[in-house]
Amino acid sequence: MDFFLDTASIESIKSFQDFGLVDGVTTNPALLAQEGQEPLRQLKEIAAMVAGPVSAQVVETDPERIIKHAQKLARVADNIVVKIPASTAGLLAAQALRAEGIKLLVTLNVHAVQTIPFIRMGVDYVAVFVGRLDAAKLDSTSLTWDTRRVIDQLNSPTKLMAASLRTPDHLTNAVAAGIHVATVSPAFWNQVFANPIFTSVEREFLQSWQQLPQELRRGYESWDDEEAG
Ligand code: G3P
Repeated sequence: MDFFLDTASIESIKSFQDFGLVDGVTTNPALLAQEGQEPLRQLKEIAAMVAGPVSAQVVETDPERIIKHAQKLARVADNIVVKIPASTAGLLAAQALRAEGIKLLVTLNVHAVQTIPFIRMGVDYVAVFVGRLDAAKLDSTSLTWDTRRVIDQLNSPTKLMAASLRTPDHLTNAVAAGIHVATVSPAFWNQVFANPIFTSVEREFLQSWQQLPQELRRGYESWDDEEAG
Protein backbone atom coordinates (compact mmCIF):
# COMPACT_ATOMS: atom_id res chain seq x y z
CA MET A 1 0.00 0.00 0.00
CA ASP A 2 1.24 3.47 -0.85
CA PHE A 3 0.98 6.76 1.01
CA PHE A 4 0.56 9.88 -1.09
CA LEU A 5 0.71 13.34 0.43
CA ASP A 6 -2.37 15.49 -0.22
CA THR A 7 -0.82 18.90 -0.60
CA ALA A 8 0.63 21.44 -3.02
CA SER A 9 3.12 22.73 -0.46
CA ILE A 10 6.77 22.23 -1.42
CA GLU A 11 7.82 22.64 2.21
CA SER A 12 5.41 19.93 3.43
CA ILE A 13 6.51 17.54 0.70
CA LYS A 14 10.16 18.01 1.69
CA SER A 15 9.49 17.38 5.36
CA PHE A 16 7.24 14.34 4.82
CA GLN A 17 9.72 12.81 2.38
CA ASP A 18 12.06 12.50 5.38
CA PHE A 19 9.42 10.32 7.10
CA GLY A 20 9.05 8.08 4.02
CA LEU A 21 5.41 9.08 3.62
CA VAL A 22 5.56 10.47 0.08
CA ASP A 23 5.16 7.66 -2.47
CA GLY A 24 3.27 10.22 -4.53
CA VAL A 25 1.42 13.55 -4.24
CA THR A 26 -2.17 14.56 -4.92
CA THR A 27 -3.11 18.16 -5.59
CA ASN A 28 -6.43 19.75 -6.44
CA PRO A 29 -7.41 23.30 -7.51
CA ALA A 30 -8.10 24.34 -3.90
CA LEU A 31 -4.71 23.09 -2.67
CA LEU A 32 -2.86 24.84 -5.52
CA ALA A 33 -4.79 28.07 -4.93
CA GLN A 34 -3.87 27.93 -1.24
CA GLU A 35 -0.16 28.19 -2.14
CA GLY A 36 -0.69 31.54 -3.92
CA GLN A 37 1.93 30.66 -6.59
CA GLU A 38 1.67 30.27 -10.35
CA PRO A 39 0.05 26.77 -10.38
CA LEU A 40 1.75 25.30 -13.47
CA ARG A 41 5.19 26.25 -12.18
CA GLN A 42 4.30 24.90 -8.73
CA LEU A 43 3.16 21.62 -10.27
CA LYS A 44 6.34 21.31 -12.32
CA GLU A 45 8.43 21.81 -9.19
CA ILE A 46 6.45 19.18 -7.26
CA ALA A 47 6.69 16.68 -10.14
CA ALA A 48 10.47 17.16 -10.22
CA MET A 49 10.94 16.48 -6.51
CA VAL A 50 8.72 13.37 -6.26
CA ALA A 51 9.63 10.08 -7.93
CA GLY A 52 6.06 8.73 -7.82
CA PRO A 53 2.80 9.96 -9.33
CA VAL A 54 1.71 13.61 -8.90
CA SER A 55 -1.91 14.36 -9.63
CA ALA A 56 -3.33 17.57 -11.05
CA GLN A 57 -7.04 18.17 -11.52
CA VAL A 58 -8.74 19.60 -14.60
CA VAL A 59 -10.72 22.77 -14.02
CA GLU A 60 -13.21 22.09 -16.81
CA THR A 61 -16.57 20.30 -16.89
CA ASP A 62 -17.25 19.94 -20.62
CA PRO A 63 -15.76 16.76 -22.25
CA GLU A 64 -13.84 18.52 -25.03
CA ARG A 65 -12.39 21.05 -22.62
CA ILE A 66 -11.54 18.33 -20.07
CA ILE A 67 -9.59 16.55 -22.82
CA LYS A 68 -7.65 19.69 -23.82
CA HIS A 69 -6.86 20.60 -20.24
CA ALA A 70 -5.84 17.04 -19.35
CA GLN A 71 -3.48 16.93 -22.35
CA LYS A 72 -1.88 20.17 -21.21
CA LEU A 73 -1.45 18.98 -17.61
CA ALA A 74 -0.03 15.63 -18.75
CA ARG A 75 2.67 17.50 -20.69
CA VAL A 76 4.01 19.09 -17.48
CA ALA A 77 5.96 15.94 -16.52
CA ASP A 78 5.99 12.18 -17.12
CA ASN A 79 4.75 11.42 -13.59
CA ILE A 80 1.61 13.57 -13.85
CA VAL A 81 -1.67 11.75 -13.29
CA VAL A 82 -4.67 13.82 -14.38
CA LYS A 83 -7.65 13.99 -12.03
CA ILE A 84 -10.98 13.97 -13.85
CA PRO A 85 -14.50 13.99 -12.40
CA ALA A 86 -16.65 10.83 -12.15
CA SER A 87 -19.28 12.39 -14.42
CA THR A 88 -20.56 11.52 -17.90
CA ALA A 89 -18.27 14.27 -19.22
CA GLY A 90 -15.40 12.62 -17.37
CA LEU A 91 -16.32 9.26 -18.88
CA LEU A 92 -16.29 10.63 -22.43
CA ALA A 93 -12.97 12.34 -21.81
CA ALA A 94 -11.48 9.27 -20.11
CA GLN A 95 -11.90 7.13 -23.20
CA ALA A 96 -10.03 9.59 -25.40
CA LEU A 97 -7.34 10.25 -22.81
CA ARG A 98 -6.74 6.56 -22.09
CA ALA A 99 -6.23 5.96 -25.81
CA GLU A 100 -3.44 8.57 -25.67
CA GLY A 101 -1.83 6.82 -22.70
CA ILE A 102 -2.56 9.67 -20.25
CA LYS A 103 -2.69 8.44 -16.65
CA LEU A 104 -6.00 9.14 -14.92
CA LEU A 105 -7.38 9.45 -11.41
CA VAL A 106 -11.17 9.57 -11.21
CA THR A 107 -12.33 11.79 -8.40
CA LEU A 108 -15.56 12.93 -6.69
CA ASN A 109 -17.25 9.51 -6.42
CA VAL A 110 -20.30 9.25 -4.20
CA HIS A 111 -21.32 5.67 -5.05
CA ALA A 112 -19.43 2.57 -6.20
CA VAL A 113 -21.72 2.35 -9.24
CA GLN A 114 -20.33 5.64 -10.53
CA THR A 115 -16.85 4.13 -10.71
CA ILE A 116 -17.77 0.87 -12.46
CA PRO A 117 -17.37 2.13 -16.08
CA PHE A 118 -14.03 3.72 -15.17
CA ILE A 119 -12.80 0.58 -13.40
CA ARG A 120 -13.88 -1.56 -16.35
CA MET A 121 -11.89 0.78 -18.60
CA GLY A 122 -8.85 0.29 -16.35
CA VAL A 123 -8.14 3.91 -15.36
CA ASP A 124 -5.13 4.17 -13.07
CA TYR A 125 -6.93 5.26 -9.87
CA VAL A 126 -10.40 5.84 -8.47
CA ALA A 127 -10.65 7.90 -5.29
CA VAL A 128 -13.20 7.56 -2.50
CA PHE A 129 -13.76 10.88 -0.72
CA VAL A 130 -14.14 9.38 2.74
CA GLY A 131 -14.47 12.52 4.89
CA ARG A 132 -16.74 14.34 2.49
CA LEU A 133 -19.05 11.31 2.27
CA ASP A 134 -19.15 11.03 6.06
CA ALA A 135 -20.00 14.72 6.31
CA ALA A 136 -22.90 14.11 3.90
CA LYS A 137 -24.03 11.13 6.08
CA LEU A 138 -23.15 8.63 3.34
CA ASP A 139 -21.54 5.31 4.22
CA SER A 140 -17.92 5.76 3.13
CA THR A 141 -16.80 2.42 4.60
CA SER A 142 -19.31 0.40 2.54
CA LEU A 143 -18.42 2.42 -0.53
CA THR A 144 -14.74 1.63 -0.05
CA TRP A 145 -15.33 -2.11 0.45
CA ASP A 146 -17.76 -2.25 -2.51
CA THR A 147 -15.40 -0.40 -4.82
CA ARG A 148 -12.56 -2.76 -3.93
CA ARG A 149 -14.83 -5.75 -4.65
CA VAL A 150 -15.79 -4.26 -8.02
CA ILE A 151 -12.10 -3.89 -8.92
CA ASP A 152 -11.39 -7.51 -7.99
CA GLN A 153 -14.53 -8.82 -9.65
CA LEU A 154 -13.70 -7.08 -12.94
CA ASN A 155 -10.07 -8.14 -12.65
CA SER A 156 -9.12 -4.51 -13.27
CA PRO A 157 -5.67 -2.92 -12.83
CA THR A 158 -7.33 0.19 -11.31
CA LYS A 159 -6.00 1.18 -7.89
CA LEU A 160 -8.34 2.24 -5.13
CA MET A 161 -7.41 5.46 -3.33
CA ALA A 162 -8.84 6.75 -0.06
CA ALA A 163 -8.89 10.56 -0.03
CA SER A 164 -10.35 13.34 2.07
CA LEU A 165 -9.35 11.55 5.28
CA ARG A 166 -10.25 13.46 8.44
CA THR A 167 -10.03 11.07 11.39
CA PRO A 168 -7.72 8.18 12.37
CA ASP A 169 -10.65 5.76 11.91
CA HIS A 170 -11.08 6.93 8.33
CA LEU A 171 -7.59 5.74 7.47
CA THR A 172 -7.73 2.51 9.51
CA ASN A 173 -11.09 1.50 8.04
CA ALA A 174 -9.94 2.31 4.52
CA VAL A 175 -6.81 0.17 4.88
CA ALA A 176 -8.95 -2.67 6.28
CA ALA A 177 -11.23 -2.33 3.26
CA GLY A 178 -8.29 -2.99 0.94
CA ILE A 179 -7.29 0.37 -0.51
CA HIS A 180 -4.11 0.46 -2.61
CA VAL A 181 -3.29 4.09 -1.81
CA ALA A 182 -4.17 6.54 0.95
CA THR A 183 -3.66 10.20 0.21
CA VAL A 184 -3.11 11.93 3.50
CA SER A 185 -2.81 15.62 4.30
CA PRO A 186 0.11 16.95 6.37
CA ALA A 187 -2.45 18.16 8.97
CA PHE A 188 -3.85 14.63 9.29
CA TRP A 189 -0.41 13.11 9.98
CA ASN A 190 0.36 15.87 12.50
CA GLN A 191 -2.92 15.15 14.28
CA VAL A 192 -2.22 11.38 14.39
CA PHE A 193 1.24 11.75 15.93
CA ALA A 194 0.27 14.49 18.37
CA ASN A 195 -2.17 12.20 20.19
CA PRO A 196 -2.26 13.37 23.86
CA ILE A 197 -2.53 9.80 25.23
CA PHE A 198 0.67 8.87 23.44
CA THR A 199 2.58 11.92 24.70
CA SER A 200 1.45 11.50 28.29
CA VAL A 201 2.36 7.77 28.44
CA GLU A 202 5.72 8.49 26.81
CA ARG A 203 6.40 11.17 29.46
CA GLU A 204 5.28 8.86 32.27
CA PHE A 205 7.70 6.08 31.20
CA LEU A 206 10.61 8.52 30.97
CA GLN A 207 9.83 9.96 34.40
CA SER A 208 9.76 6.45 35.92
CA TRP A 209 13.08 5.68 34.23
CA GLN A 210 14.68 8.71 35.87
CA GLN A 211 13.89 7.17 39.29
CA LEU A 212 16.61 4.55 38.69
CA PRO A 213 20.06 5.78 39.90
CA GLN A 214 22.23 7.03 37.05
CA GLU A 215 25.00 4.45 37.57
CA LEU A 216 22.47 1.65 37.06
CA ARG A 217 20.95 3.32 34.01
CA ARG A 218 24.29 3.92 32.32
CA GLY A 219 24.75 0.54 30.58
CA TYR A 220 21.25 0.59 29.13
CA GLU A 221 21.44 4.19 27.94
CA SER A 222 24.94 4.20 26.46
CA TRP A 223 25.42 3.27 22.81
CA ASP A 224 29.14 2.89 23.40
CA ASP A 225 29.61 -0.50 25.14
CA GLU A 226 33.18 0.26 26.27
CA GLU A 227 32.20 3.54 27.90
CA ALA A 228 29.31 1.77 29.67
CA GLY A 229 31.85 -0.70 31.12
O1 G3P B 1 -6.90 14.46 -3.20
C1 G3P B 1 -8.08 14.40 -2.45
C2 G3P B 1 -8.30 15.67 -1.76
O2 G3P B 1 -8.03 16.69 -2.62
C3 G3P B 1 -9.58 15.76 -1.01
O3 G3P B 1 -9.90 17.05 -0.72
O4 G3P B 1 -10.75 18.95 0.47
O5 G3P B 1 -11.87 16.76 0.82
O6 G3P B 1 -9.60 17.13 1.76
P1 G3P B 1 -10.58 17.49 0.67
